[in-house]
Amino acid sequence: MIDKQSLHGEWSSRFAFILAATGSAVGLGNIWKFPYIAGENGGSAFVMVYVVCVVLMGIPIMMAETMLGRRAKQNPVATMQTLTKEAGADTRWQYLAWMGMVAGFLILSYYSVIAGWASAYTLKAVMGDFFGSDAQKTSVMFAEFISSPIRLIFWHSFFMLATMIIVSKGIRNGLERAVQMLMPVLFVMMFLLVGYAMTTSGYSQGLHFLFSPDFSKITGKVVLTAIGQAFFSLGLGMGTMMIYGAYLPKNVSIAKSTIIVASADTIVALLAGIAIFPIVFANGLQPDSGPGLVFETLPIAFGNMTGGWLFGVLFFIMLVVAALTSSIALIEPAVAWLIESKEMTRDQACVRAGLVAWVLGFVTVLSFNRWADVHFFGQTLFELIDALTANIMLPAGGFAIAIFAGWMMKQPHTEQELALPTMQYKIWKVLISYVAPAGVFLIFLHVVGVL
Ligand code: TRP
Repeated sequence: MIDKQSLHGEWSSRFAFILAATGSAVGLGNIWKFPYIAGENGGSAFVMVYVVCVVLMGIPIMMAETMLGRRAKQNPVATMQTLTKEAGADTRWQYLAWMGMVAGFLILSYYSVIAGWASAYTLKAVMGDFFGSDAQKTSVMFAEFISSPIRLIFWHSFFMLATMIIVSKGIRNGLERAVQMLMPVLFVMMFLLVGYAMTTSGYSQGLHFLFSPDFSKITGKVVLTAIGQAFFSLGLGMGTMMIYGAYLPKNVSIAKSTIIVASADTIVALLAGIAIFPIVFANGLQPDSGPGLVFETLPIAFGNMTGGWLFGVLFFIMLVVAALTSSIALIEPAVAWLIESKEMTRDQACVRAGLVAWVLGFVTVLSFNRWADVHFFGQTLFELIDALTANIMLPAGGFAIAIFAGWMMKQPHTEQELALPTMQYKIWKVLISYVAPAGVFLIFLHVVGVL
């Protein structure tokens, strides 16, 4: 039989849960994705909407998702089955968990490709390739790098293998310790890069681009992208927080922990923006140049600052590790489900799940070179997978979680799990029952053109 014991083992402390959840939240989404989609969506307009989404929808839904997991203490599918029974709700609520697992595979498939880029750039940093870089050099370097499918597949395979090895060891062994070291170092690196950005001629322009309010640029697309990014960056809507919640001891405050995680996640994303946009403007790069943005800007910083070789190496190692602590979070729900329901060992489950995501990843690899001209609805296949998951599946998952927690579960049960003072519970209840679902719903209507 399977090792159910270890699956339902618990985080060793509240701190361990916060670290693991922060590890899931902080990743490529903050450092790679946030800057480039902020750049594509008008900078400050996007940043404002993003922060509002994190507070009004992200945090309440993060609390709800964690709460569902902790109440049932199983994989997301079984969790939803148990909770629908307890609440006397329709059993079809479990499709929420199924959709989440599919979203997890789709996200991981491209996540691993991009994390592969970061791995390759770690090697470039070690080789001193960034020395004396300017915008011209880094742009050519990046374009040349993504042009080879074989090279991208190599690094994608490298990263996926690393993910599988860690997940096969179980979430707690090694992971807890790795994240413990990573987070402080990553913070220091971000501040260091901000320090460099302050010395460039683009600093005030960068800050202006990110923070001076410009309501005229807020469009339906900007809002939807910001909601999608909030879910993506916090790691919500697909079961990660459910499974991490399932490992959470009963006496830990869900509200406090999730607020800490969401704050850390938002701070890292903002720091990444503050580090990157001054370099963009100082070097005449385009803020909306897309997924290559980080790879075209930061090497300029490392190539020109004192100690740049060391910091460059450290930074890209951090980025890869931050990506690893997220990729394991993306696949853990499916792995837990395979172990519990299909009676597989953890190793078997890892190999199966990893292979699926690995093969799917080829689509992303090719969409940056051979299939770069293949467009559906004006988007490359990578952009489509990204939009489908971040802008549709995650918000839909979050919407369902909000409705389930706010309307289906019995109030005494949610009160008991959250254990909040009355006033704070009421605020959560209003946000989760009305504000969060209405926000997501209105945006969807807008996008399909009803509004
Ligand atoms: N939040 C992670 C990142 O930035 C990615 C991630 C981990 C994720 N778990 C998730 C995204 C669950 C969506 C859903 O980079």
